[in-house]
Amino acid sequence: MSSVFKNESVMSPDFLPSILPFRETQVARIAENMESAADGGSGQNTFIFGPPGIGKTATVRFVFRQFEDEYPGIRAVYVNCWDCNTSIAVMSKITNDLGVFVPRRGLGKDEVSGKFQEAVGKSKGGVVVCLDEVDQLVNKEPGALYSLIRLGGPRQLTLVMISNDPHIMSKLENRVTSSLSAEEVEFRSYNIDEMKGILSERARTAFSSFESAAIMLAANHAIRKGGDVRVGLQCLQRAGRVAEKVGDSRLLAKHVRDVVSVVKEAKPQIVMKKLNAHEKSIVEIVAKKSPMSFGELFAAYRKSVEKPSSERMVQEYVRHLEQAKMIRLSEKKVAGKRMVYAV
Ligand SMILES: Nc1ncnc2c1ncn2[C@@H]1O[C@H](COP(=O)(O)OP(=O)(O)O)[C@@H](O)[C@H]1O
Ligand SMILES: [Mg+2]
Repeated sequence: MSSVFKNESVMSPDFLPSILPFRETQVARIAENMESAADGGSGQNTFIFGPPGIGKTATVRFVFRQFEDEYPGIRAVYVNCWDCNTSIAVMSKITNDLGVFVPRRGLGKDEVSGKFQEAVGKSKGGVVVCLDEVDQLVNKEPGALYSLIRLGGPRQLTLVMISNDPHIMSKLENRVTSSLSAEEVEFRSYNIDEMKGILSERARTAFSSFESAAIMLAANHAIRKGGDVRVGLQCLQRAGRVAEKVGDSRLLAKHVRDVVSVVKEAKPQIVMKKLNAHEKSIVEIVAKKSPMSFGELFAAYRKSVEKPSSERMVQEYVRHLEQAKMIRLSEKKVAGKRMVYAV
């Protein structure tokens, strides 16, 4: 008997579909801003913002793929600022991707900037850099964007910045905002019909056959959980596994009904994947007892990991987790102590 899945990988959140319904306007705006970079000139910087799971990353990756196919001269580099949250890390990543090797550790800022300038200078067409989750970079090192544009040369580097936080740019100094002069592109949440359309398009390539009521249920659940497409994809993928288990080759509404209760908001799970072992352990400790003081948290943390980091590093993890909205810190001290809450 044939399997319910034709191609299960299409349901993975990392899969980049060949069409992105309902994002045509945004695709066109970003592409237009990148145009002159493709001709070797300076493109228009772009700042993209909007809630999670609504295709911001996918749209930029989509445009990058199109440009690389059409203009072999252009270099499009994707940087996730969760992984690279300092100017040195971002410059190293770009430099390496442009084919000039920099080791991950051991070089000072001057050496890295030198290599970065060399790599950008060498590339004949323009260099377009996507700084995804740019709030991570701006919060960690407010001067990082300035270093990048100053060293990269405004004529050669075109930035496409993405953030969930629409106000992150207001944290920059005026001279940085004005030299970036980024065009804002807002991504709005999908409505239920758009969600259905997106999910059924993905389902068409993923499943051998499906009932449209199955899509409707998954789309409803995704909207109820905040409009994140990943929630809908996860429902369908899990439902597909249920169908497979019971030997059905068609995805049915009842399979989706079986799984909706276990598919939660995508955000915490997705973010959890990106945290380091120390940060994960902190989230778990706070989830068990909330609120707790930083001192208590630090003591519990030291017991829970093999090689605990210093108190200063743990403070840094806590700050990072707060920015990612994985935990909350009290505004004021309670009995002289800063309290940490689960969210
Ligand atoms: N218009 C769309 N068409 C097809 N898939 C989409 C669309 N919008 C979002 N997705 C899918 O939803 C998931 C989340 O999108 P993503 O770009 O990662 O969200 P964001 O960056 O806004 O948090 C990805 O798997 C993406 O492919
Ligand atoms: Mg994203």
